[in-house]
Amino acid sequence: MNFLVTGGAGFIGSAVCRHLCANPAYRVTNLDKLTYAGNLASLRPIENAHNYRFEQADICDERAVLEILRRDDIDIVMNLAAESHVDRSIDGPGAFIETNIVGTYRILNAALEYWRGLSEERKPGFRFHHVSTDEVFGDLPFDGGMFVEETPYAPSSPYSASKAASDHLVRAWHETYGLPVVLSNCSNNYGPYHFPEKLIPLVILNALDEKPLPVYGAGANVRDWLFVEDHARALELVATKGQPGESYNVGGNSERTNLGVVETICGLLDLKRPRAGGKSYRDLITFVTDRPGHDRRYAIDAAKIARDLGWAPRENFDSGLARTVDWYLDNKWWWGPIREQRYDGERLGRGRVETRPAASAPIENAKSESSPTGSKAGSRKVAT
Ligand code: NAD
Ligand code: DAU
Repeated sequence: MNFLVTGGAGFIGSAVCRHLCANPAYRVTNLDKLTYAGNLASLRPIENAHNYRFEQADICDERAVLEILRRDDIDIVMNLAAESHVDRSIDGPGAFIETNIVGTYRILNAALEYWRGLSEERKPGFRFHHVSTDEVFGDLPFDGGMFVEETPYAPSSPYSASKAASDHLVRAWHETYGLPVVLSNCSNNYGPYHFPEKLIPLVILNALDEKPLPVYGAGANVRDWLFVEDHARALELVATKGQPGESYNVGGNSERTNLGVVETICGLLDLKRPRAGGKSYRDLITFVTDRPGHDRRYAIDAAKIARDLGWAPRENFDSGLARTVDWYLDNKWWWGPIREQRYDGERLGRGRVETRPAASAPIENAKSESSPTGSKAGSRKVAT
């Protein structure tokens, strides 16, 4: 079986490539533009594998994608290529519109042309798997509800709006042209090779550098965390066993407040790499101005993928976070050059930044029930 993984030099895409290449019956082509977030060092464990090849290309380049589909006789496309960071989408939405919406449109066109040229025997087995996010469902209240596959889309950020648009295009290519597509919407991933602009690796590396650990607002926002290797297994199942036209929610059943996550990381580092002077890393926690449009809570009901495809996460949050902290402690060769040359941890997603020590009151609270930016969660179709 021949896979085309787009965005395979990114955090999740590289985990998918490493996972798929462990199966000698699979051949994997990794197509990636190598933006700031792409890193071939994340593919080091498989770079010489007989069943792996890399191709630098842009999903917006329809011709290039079509050529690769034909050359490598692809059975399954897994589309992970995207601009993925909410804060960057606040600073500059253009790249998100270009890659996440226009790029998805272009790769759909390439896939459709390729699929139409397949033999009648191979056509039904082809899959276009679009990898999406729980953020398309928008904002949940703190006190209940979970996203199910039928939850209406209500994205809040330029990032999530661009992902929602791409999901709609993928469904339209199925309904209108019959392209055999599957979709998955996943919660927050964490684990090795995570670009240190995202909360968990940023906090680990800032702590090791004795820098402030920035917590947006009151740190009360809740995310549902999933270890990236569990996501990679789920994606393989969706791509190979998912029903055309269906979408599958994927989540870790590990809801945590942001402040809770940061404090847990501090506790792990206090044990594994105690600070000189004996103080806790918790003293570095700093509440900063909130992210505009910050969704309060995400929570995934993953019953469908469990029931239909037999998937369940293997890591819980404590075991996965301990593995992640260990990985960052052991792999400075990977993150050192990123912190020095690509991104050193400065605040993104907010022009003017105010800071206060953790001991004082937070500057802003998370989106409140009466926020003028509006939670639509009350009218939402959610599991309880
Ligand atoms: P990432 O930012 O780490 O990696 C994205 C990769 O896509 C990079 O290697 C980049 O070079 C590549 N890329 C960007 N634009 C491209 C283009 N035009 N053509 C080809 N390649 C391009 O992202 P990630 O966290 O690994 O996320 C992967 C996918 O999973 C995204 O679609 C994201 O929306 C989705 N997702 C992420 C999470 C998460 O928690 N990180 C959760 C759910 C869904
Ligand atoms: O839910 C899935 C999504 O998870 C994916 O679709 C996105 O691609 C991925 O980036 C992630 O989005 P988040 O915005 O939830 O991830 P991030 O790590 O940026 O932030 C996690 C939470 O932590 C969020 O509530 C904002 C907060 N935060 C983030 C940073 C970077 C802080 O409090 N401080 C920070 O410095």
